Amino acid sequence: MTDQETSIKSTNITAVESRVTLQDRIKRSGHTGGVLWFTGLSGSGKSTLAIELERRLFNIGYNVFVLDGDNVRHGLSSNLGFSPDDRTENIRRIGEVASLFSSAGFIVIAAFISPYQEDRDRAREASGENFHEIYVKADLSLCESRDPKGLYQKARRGEIPEFTGISAPYEAPVIPEFTVDTGELDVEKSVTALAKYVGAKFIQQQD
Ligand code: ADX
Repeated sequence: MTDQETSIKSTNITAVESRVTLQDRIKRSGHTGGVLWFTGLSGSGKSTLAIELERRLFNIGYNVFVLDGDNVRHGLSSNLGFSPDDRTENIRRIGEVASLFSSAGFIVIAAFISPYQEDRDRAREASGENFHEIYVKADLSLCESRDPKGLYQKARRGEIPEFTGISAPYEAPVIPEFTVDTGELDVEKSVTALAKYVGAKFIQQQD
């Protein structure tokens, strides 16, 4: 039994098998599914790049969908906060949802701080070989100077407990598949670099 199977609470469950094959889906969409997992500090540019990359990939024919931390926390993860356990559960859920989207043939752009390497590794396990860990890199000092939502200021004043980078840890990826350094590249150049990466990894097939 795998670790995952041993942690399943339900008993007497039997998986059903789809009659639409992976090949059927690839034939229709023209490409395989997969997960682009964006990790980085708050303010590193994850959401901005996710939204711009989604638009760029959609325009050239990819089936693509963004899962974003702030959005998901309004719904699927609305009962979770920012304790280590809650973040782990948040990332577990997203890892599973991303895997489902990926199986449906979509390229999922998941933009979450996802501060713990172990949680990101679990998300990778859920999706297998089509998982790409992408480090959206920006120093804490840069993120703090950007402070688009004013959250760093609040965290420094002690008004937000367990704030990533200030009073909660962030573990940078050990061996990400791709790094985009938003301290070096502007949005346009970052998106171009990401789109090039996607173009190389998700070959579009013509009929
Ligand atoms: S994660 O750690 O569980 O991956 P997630 O990406 O879903 O976090 O949510 C991060 C967003 O929540 C941030 O962009 C920020 O807007 C908001 N936020 C609110 N409180 C915190 C906090 N304590 N630490 C980090 N982000 C927070």
